Amino acid sequence: MDAMYGEIKIERTLTPKQKPNEDKLVFGHEFTDHMFEMDWNKEQGWHDPRIVPYGPLTLSPACNCFHYGQETFEGLKAYRCEDGSIRLFRPEENFKRLNNSNDRLSMPQIDVDFAVNALKKLIEIDADWVPHKKDTSLYIRPFMIGTEPSLGAHTSNQYKFLIILSPVGAYYATGLSPVKIYVEDQYVRAVRGGTGFAKCGGNYAASMKAQDIAEAEGFSQVLWLDGVERKYIEEVGAMNVFFVLGDEVVTPALQGSILPGITRKSVIELLRSWGVKVTERRISAEELVEAYKEGKFTEMFGSGTAAVISPVGLLRYEGTDMVLSGGKIGELSQKLYDSLTGIQWGRVEDPFGWSVKIL
Ligand code: PLP
Ligand code: COI
Repeated sequence: MDAMYGEIKIERTLTPKQKPNEDKLVFGHEFTDHMFEMDWNKEQGWHDPRIVPYGPLTLSPACNCFHYGQETFEGLKAYRCEDGSIRLFRPEENFKRLNNSNDRLSMPQIDVDFAVNALKKLIEIDADWVPHKKDTSLYIRPFMIGTEPSLGAHTSNQYKFLIILSPVGAYYATGLSPVKIYVEDQYVRAVRGGTGFAKCGGNYAASMKAQDIAEAEGFSQVLWLDGVERKYIEEVGAMNVFFVLGDEVVTPALQGSILPGITRKSVIELLRSWGVKVTERRISAEELVEAYKEGKFTEMFGSGTAAVISPVGLLRYEGTDMVLSGGKIGELSQKLYDSLTGIQWGRVEDPFGWSVKIL
């Protein structure tokens, strides 16, 4: 498998960096000593896979990714377990999703087994960067960019695929404390038929303005509504969402405009394995307000690789502030957090085969 796109060449850094203080890790600010890089063109396909010292790229300012945004990415983590071993969580799922994103953006496919193997090799080299402190991990960012130096607005005929690594702490500065979110009613993030289900930079660029406004108002993120009727709940900027309504857990169905989260899928499988009723369907913001007034909407959380399980303590929609689980972490959110992180860090048995020991 290794040799599929050629042997992975390894060039080690001569100047290893000092590791960051694990007590002060913030999300995505520090990067390890090495990165994986590989190129694609029409003649050769993927070629020249290599692990090289982490550092700046030299690219033509005319590259397609700078002008027309042919860019896709992924996000997963490596976890340091108590016995010192290192684990990944469902890594194939991320590279399969990368291929789905690439298909939508008319970018080349990548062999999933090759990519997982390249990632393992990279982590092996930078293994000392996987932090040890509780709730820290090594965030993995695979991404692909169109590199053809041409201003014609057409599919790039050259690409780069890279993987960079970043030791991280909690995504939200508040950690596991509940976040405040409001339902966004001015801007929209995606529509069906667009790129909402793909993990591409453009989706995030489209959401920055609303995010900035929310942060300025003391909220963590916004909850997007569907772009057509502006009624139905979609997702939050970096996570999928779940609502506890009576004895049912509801999450928006995947209809092409939201990201099919790997944590979302795992949460659904975990809940079902516990006998909890989970429904994937359309759910309107109005329905949430009604359920809240009737005392049936009791808990809300987001799910994501970076966000893990993130309790929502307050949800605002138009004039209504819905305070959930008394503004504290809800019972189900806590149980899911413990079970999911237990599996990810190899602390509890993994009946699903999700956690992959790599070192
Ligand atoms: N939705 C969006 C927009 C995201 O950026 C993410 C993060 O990756 C998610 C949902 C959660 O997806 P996953 O659980 O695969 O990390
Ligand atoms: C992730 O959770 O991996 C993401 O990609 C979200 C990102 C906005 C940090």
